[in-house]
Amino acid sequence: MAPTAGIESENPYEETAEVPGDAARVARRAHSRSYLMCPPTYFDVVYAINDWMRPEEPVDRDRAMSQWSALADTYRRLGHEVLTIDPVEGLPDMVFVTDSGLVVDGVALGARYRSAERRAEAEHVFRWFSDNGLIRPTLPRYVNEGEGDFLVVGDVILAGTGFRSDPRSHAEAAAHLGRTVITLNLVNPRYYHLNTALGVLDDSTIAYLPAAFSPDSRALLEQMYPDAVIAAETDTDWLGLNLVSDGANVVLPVQASHLADQLSARGYEPVPVDYSEFLKSGGGIKCSTLELRGFRGLRIAEDQG
Ligand code: ARG
Repeated sequence: MAPTAGIESENPYEETAEVPGDAARVARRAHSRSYLMCPPTYFDVVYAINDWMRPEEPVDRDRAMSQWSALADTYRRLGHEVLTIDPVEGLPDMVFVTDSGLVVDGVALGARYRSAERRAEAEHVFRWFSDNGLIRPTLPRYVNEGEGDFLVVGDVILAGTGFRSDPRSHAEAAAHLGRTVITLNLVNPRYYHLNTALGVLDDSTIAYLPAAFSPDSRALLEQMYPDAVIAAETDTDWLGLNLVSDGANVVLPVQASHLADQLSARGYEPVPVDYSEFLKSGGGIKCSTLELRGFRGLRIAEDQG
């Protein structure tokens, strides 16, 4: 088992542990998170709505299920909470639950899919938000593929457009969530969601593939994140940037070894997992992990009230 950085005691609900590493390395702080996941019970590739999907190529559902379970176990081992939503037959992409919403400070914004094939997923996840006490669950008016295109970096939200989410959904999200939303234009169909081209490492650090963005967006990213980790296509070919970080431990595809080395050099702890079966659908680790920010605080408030 790979060593993992400890969860920092930032509030009473988190555990304390020493962050390992030598003095030359930056001590990164892990924060315990709540993640929503959907088992790939009905996972399949039966239509093609992105460049990765080949309906004629069979999917190994047992392999998908064991990779998904290993990912969920990895999160639990790192001290995170994993909640699940029931999968629905006939919705083969529902495992990519991250595209179905965006939760900040316990406030939930649902999704509106571009393609008819995925449309019903948004309703199921929206119901889950309502049933589980999230604040002001709302369905957006404009096409909005949730955390597929919206990534929270500290106080700002980076939002992608070009293939899926409508640029008007960016202002809509800013209004609902009360955060600044920065628009980024995606230009390469292989990186059709923001989370295929950019990964959030902590509240002020990102990793990204510059070639996936328009020149203007690239300039903006350079200016906002001069210390960003610059990824190469050898890693993004495996959806290496579709990663999940708790601020110290970075769960990423085992094949993205070059990126893992870059992260180690920066004091992060790469936690490699094999999630390759999902590449057949153009999905990865982050696509399967919807972060419920502020969810634990909501429940604690409820228990005390
Ligand atoms: N087949 C799914 C689609 O094209 C994959 C979604 C993966 N999610 C993501 N955020 N990249 O919609």
